[in-house]
Amino acid sequence: MRLLVKNIAKIVGIDTARRERVCGADMAHTGTLDGAWLAVSDARIEAFGEQETMPDEATFDRVVDAAGGMLYPSFCDSHTHIVYAGSREQEFLDKINGLSYEEIARRGGGILNSADRLHESSEEALYEQAMERVREIIAMGTGAVEIKSGYGLSTEDELKMLRVVRRIRESVPLEVRATFLGAHAVSRKYAGRQEEYVDYVCHDMLPAVAAEGLADFVDVFCDKGFFTIEQTRRIMREGAKYGLRAKIHANELDASGGVQLGVEEGALSVDHLERAGAPEIEALRGSTTIPTLLPGAAFFLGMDYPPARAMIAAGLPVALASDYNPGSSPSGNMRMVMSLGSIRMRMTPTEALNAATINGAAAMGISHDFGSITVGKVANFFITKPMPSPEFFVYAYSTPLISRTFLRGEEQTH
Ligand code: NIG
Ligand code: FE
Repeated sequence: MRLLVKNIAKIVGIDTARRERVCGADMAHTGTLDGAWLAVSDARIEAFGEQETMPDEATFDRVVDAAGGMLYPSFCDSHTHIVYAGSREQEFLDKINGLSYEEIARRGGGILNSADRLHESSEEALYEQAMERVREIIAMGTGAVEIKSGYGLSTEDELKMLRVVRRIRESVPLEVRATFLGAHAVSRKYAGRQEEYVDYVCHDMLPAVAAEGLADFVDVFCDKGFFTIEQTRRIMREGAKYGLRAKIHANELDASGGVQLGVEEGALSVDHLERAGAPEIEALRGSTTIPTLLPGAAFFLGMDYPPARAMIAAGLPVALASDYNPGSSPSGNMRMVMSLGSIRMRMTPTEALNAATINGAAAMGISHDFGSITVGKVANFFITKPMPSPEFFVYAYSTPLISRTFLRGEEQTH
């Protein structure tokens, strides 16, 4: 199958250097090409160029007219929890009435509330609900996504979640990575027996998940009121025995040393970082661990935003992700995430784009194939309505600007 996209006003997000990730000052730049065409062959980007050099349309199976819109690489959303049952708007009301995320969790709401609902759902019902969110994020421009377990909290229910992730991976052209997050909270059954719960995660859940090959990564909610540094280290090391690299939740509620631990143990990413400052940035400098910021969660929970500017100034490869989940970020809108990056963290629109595409891909270990417009990469991209500039895409933050989405070179209908 060969596809030609013509009449593109501007291709944005070109990377001819095939970088694995984009760091610090380089984040302010991206390749662009005005008045362009792009060709796809066998689901990959075959070539692109200026209008005058366009190959003969007759040699293609399909020609798409971009009608003067811009073409972007699809978003790579490296942190989500989109397999969940029901919703938690009651807690939303509790928050409006003054309770904090931690207070809600202490009262048995939060993650445990979602775990109860998930336990009662069949795998089929869970799959159907998750697929609605999958279709939603595809329509909003996402082309690769990481999905975590962590609302199971028992071997059986964690496996149920991860089997749903596998089914999603098999049924849509979206690129999917799965993360085992058994240590998201201590289950009700293990209340008051946190250390025993960690044993259960390490010696029961992890081997079962690995035996079915259901996860690519391991995650721990390493934070005040959840799991300690020592427990997190144990789980990361246990995960490593099964070849699972870590992506950890760190420094959302407290500066507890999670970032430093992630770096020490070679985590692929450390995510959240609302409570990060100079020591965390220093620890990340020169490491291979990607700081992944989730401004949708800071927005929804009314928290301080992570120090993106200081991280970029320190030369770090900042990634942005949605954290789509029922408790702290009920949205997978990566354009909104970019806008929050710009509005609340003072990232330029180009920095936000690099963070939401190539660096998000790097935070899933897939940037060789995703995250930029590069010859040979998978043809995941979207076309916008005509816009005055790429900055407009981030500025007009709620205008529906994404008009057509393509995954593996196939147009997606929503
Ligand atoms: O990334 N912080 C931990 N986990 C999720 C929230 C999970 C929930 O509240 O259901 C997060 O914010
Ligand atoms: Fe999360």
